[in-house]
Amino acid sequence: MDKNKIIIFDTTLRDGEQCPGASLNIKEKVEIARQLAVLGVDVIEAGFPVSSPGDFESVKMVSKSVKGPVICGLARSLEKDIDAAYGAVKSADRARIHVFLATSKIHMKYKLQKAEDEILKLAVGAVKYARGKLPDVEFSPEDASRTERPFLYKVLEAVISAGAGTVNIPDTVGYSTPFEFADLIRGIKENVPNIDRAVISVHCHNDLGLGVANSLLAVMNGARQVECTMNGLGERAGNASLEEIVMAIKTRNDIFRNCYTDINTKEIYKTSKLVSKLTGMPVQPNKAVIGANAFAHESGIHQDGVLKERVTYEIMKPEDVGFEESKIVLGKHSGRHAFDARLKTMGVDLKKAELDKAFERFKVLADKKKEIFDEDLETIVGEEMSKVPEKAHLIHFLITSGDSVKPAAEITLKYDGKTRKSSSTGDGPVDACYRAIDKITGASGKLMDYQIRSVTRGKDALGEVSIKVGSKGKVFSGRGASTDIIEASIKAYLNAINKRAMILR
Ligand code: KIV
Ligand code: ZN
Repeated sequence: MDKNKIIIFDTTLRDGEQCPGASLNIKEKVEIARQLAVLGVDVIEAGFPVSSPGDFESVKMVSKSVKGPVICGLARSLEKDIDAAYGAVKSADRARIHVFLATSKIHMKYKLQKAEDEILKLAVGAVKYARGKLPDVEFSPEDASRTERPFLYKVLEAVISAGAGTVNIPDTVGYSTPFEFADLIRGIKENVPNIDRAVISVHCHNDLGLGVANSLLAVMNGARQVECTMNGLGERAGNASLEEIVMAIKTRNDIFRNCYTDINTKEIYKTSKLVSKLTGMPVQPNKAVIGANAFAHESGIHQDGVLKERVTYEIMKPEDVGFEESKIVLGKHSGRHAFDARLKTMGVDLKKAELDKAFERFKVLADKKKEIFDEDLETIVGEEMSKVPEKAHLIHFLITSGDSVKPAAEITLKYDGKTRKSSSTGDGPVDACYRAIDKITGASGKLMDYQIRSVTRGKDALGEVSIKVGSKGKVFSGRGASTDIIEASIKAYLNAINKRAMILR
């Protein structure tokens, strides 16, 4: 392989999904994996198959339906985990098993209660067992950055001899600092005798906000695979963000000595939006590369500079990461053919039944909203395509609200095939609606998060509501869009209830 190529290993669907409240269903995982393939990632870590039947199924579905990247499943150093990972990835065109085992004193003593010798034996045994199933095996000494160096080198040498083609160095708790991490990678290159038989990978968490910096210093010192996630999602403070790593390597090629990735950077913004929408995790406006303000110039001096010469204040071109000016694309008089043609230019090819439903929604929207943008189309089509079986469906709602009345809602739903009506008061109109819905569905979910955003500009813009509802120890996300934010809120709540009904049957 080209020595300057940096392998992008995306773990949005595994570590990213470990982000509190970011759970995804199988259909959503496959949709993200397809987009990751379009983005051009080299490896997709699709999940941790032994962790739940749902995770196993989603890794299996991704393996069957997503072509291009290597599909990887995570496993502890246990035969049953490796069997599950193999079972889930074996149908992929190119499959990998990623085995891990903690090697730091802290983890060995408190978590595993095992001595170094035992750990070494387990790691080697696991890699050999995985190699008996697949030729592509990766090994991670968990908490590598807090592992005693001599033991780390010994484990790495042993797992490479046992057949690991990639050795991943995780900064599991985001404890390392850039120069320290660079020194660790250099130390591995100098002290692991057979290191040239494996690719060095890094996996940095962001607890001190150093995940990207640590990963980039590792690249400058010989790492050739970077594990990262879209939007920096991940356990606790998240993982190193894919878009920041890719754009740093591309923009500062002088510093990264001609290293490159195969990412199609023009797909970054679209991928980021999809991940944010499906996980219900909004992107902060000032987020590097993909935040709404990343290319917005507020100060007059900056605006003047950019108008005179873009490079004065812009180090990347917005179009290089896929930002585009919103365009008015359709209106009330647009026909079905124009609608279908526009969707096709956006890369959305719907089956007849889906197209019929999406067109129906488009017509309703076009009656309320004069100008329809690409973002509006994405939202309504996305809603149609990600629909779950509807146990609860909104038929009608009426609210009373104002500064001198107690907010009240009357809701009519089709629930379990029957039309049911209920009413309630609440702290506000949304609370009143949710209480009325609870009376019909008997749901006792706790609203853990509520976000609203405008899909496009303008007072008549679609409002998209994303919520998280906790129920029976699980978190269900829900989304709904409408030009009426109360209706969007109701739809989001029903979406979460329908997901809950599908999973907790
Ligand atoms: O952070 C970590 O150590 C991990 C391993 C499983 C690679 O996610
Ligand atoms: Zn991790």
